[in-house]
Amino acid sequence: MSEIAQWLKQQQKLLDRELSKRLPRANARPATIHQAMRYSVFAGGKRIRPILCLAAAEACGGDPKLALAPACALEVLHTYSLVHDDLPCMDDDDLRRGRPTSHKVYGEGIAVLTGDALLTEAFIMLAKTPETKRYGVKHYLEELGQASSSLKLIGGQVMDLEGEGKDLSKAQLIRIHEAKTAALLESALRLGAMTANATPKKLEALTEFGSHLGLAFQVIDDILDVTQTTDQLGKTAGKDEAVAKSTYPAIMGLEASKREAHRLTDKAHAALSVFGEQAHRLEQIGHYMLDRDY
Ligand code: IPE
Ligand code: IPE
Ligand code: MG
Ligand code: MG
Ligand code: MG
Repeated sequence: MSEIAQWLKQQQKLLDRELSKRLPRANARPATIHQAMRYSVFAGGKRIRPILCLAAAEACGGDPKLALAPACALEVLHTYSLVHDDLPCMDDDDLRRGRPTSHKVYGEGIAVLTGDALLTEAFIMLAKTPETKRYGVKHYLEELGQASSSLKLIGGQVMDLEGEGKDLSKAQLIRIHEAKTAALLESALRLGAMTANATPKKLEALTEFGSHLGLAFQVIDDILDVTQTTDQLGKTAGKDEAVAKSTYPAIMGLEASKREAHRLTDKAHAALSVFGEQAHRLEQIGHYMLDRDY
């Protein structure tokens, strides 16, 4: 296994331990909801957002341990968005992270509430982030709140739903991807940087890195939906075409989409020049995300 693959695995293990410590216990009453929350969180995601958060803290000269609270908050918030994204009234998916989706196991009512509970838990976790000279809890709350608001993540999901069966322009598609996916990745980097008391200049550079990387991430998600099998993805392949979603491959074709993902990743990396050697991990993660197969 390559050094970066090993490091990522280590981070995933560390995050799983931290998430388990921070989530309500599985037997807390009422047990159903706490089991359902853990069922979706521990189904085995890639943990990209929390890993970016930890790596951003390190790139800014901070201690990644101090970024564990926002890292966990990002992952449970992301998991909420997946639980709701899979509901029959949204993408109607049966499989997620290699397991039956939350509503398939627990029913729709509990799945809706599981998403709600994970979203709420994210802000409880986030509030425990240590403050620095420049940034306090109100900055952290505002940061994650905005990224997941109706202007970003939720707004993107709205535009995504409303775009089904329509021919969207590339500009419209970029707007959707930026809102539903890139905003949270961007925020992951910013939160990590804030725990390291990052200068405004570094925060700005990471914001730019995150916006290109986040866009590339969704382009790749759309490509994988076409090129991979359900088994490989752990979620239903070919789903986007089946419901006539506008995606990069649908609009510009597979090869041009792959070139676009490369171009966006290069653009993202160019934004890291102010960090020099300190951005090594972030660059490695960017390459890994581009080459991923699930
Ligand atoms: C899937 O996210 C949804 C998108 C925003 C593209 P991930 O690909 O990060 O899913 P997990 O967390 O690894 O399951
Ligand atoms: C989901 O995008 C984005 C969010 C959950 C915010 P997709 O609908 O493409 O994600 P997958 O493919 O189901 O993971
Ligand atoms: Mg969706
Ligand atoms: Mg979906
Ligand atoms: Mg997808």
